[in-house]
Amino acid sequence: MRNRIEVMHGVNLDQLGRRDPAHYGTMTLTQLELRISDTAAELGLQTRFFQTNHEGEFVEHLHGLEDLADGLVLNPGAWTHYSFAIRDALELVALPAVEIHLSDVDSREPWRRESVIGDLCVTRIAGHGADGYREALACLHEELSR
Ligand code: DQA
Repeated sequence: MRNRIEVMHGVNLDQLGRRDPAHYGTMTLTQLELRISDTAAELGLQTRFFQTNHEGEFVEHLHGLEDLADGLVLNPGAWTHYSFAIRDALELVALPAVEIHLSDVDSREPWRRESVIGDLCVTRIAGHGADGYREALACLHEELSR
């Protein structure tokens, strides 16, 4: 069964726990990743995690995933809204991906409504905090069982 999920966090997400709790909650990235891996295990999915604040590293990590992952959970942070480099890399790797945001990007500043990766993703989940990752994993589980 295809069950390998790469969970990728982009710029500033290593600062969870210090960022505005009204948008991002109080969990650190380590706590969030633990919760995601527990949820994934319940669904029979394996997870690997990656975070960087460097756009080129995010792109290169995507380049290397072809034989290592079956699906992607992507929270690129602010890059979501403008990084055509990440978009091109995602197109290249051609794995089923879910775009996720902790905060409700649609009810914040107008520039956060834009996603340059959205049309390459199976779905976008936003504003459900850490619970959104459960939805993302469930969605990929269904996608990969087809
Ligand atoms: C975010 C939303 C982005 O607009 C923001 O730049 C982030 C985090 C989220 O998870 O809500 O860094 O992706």
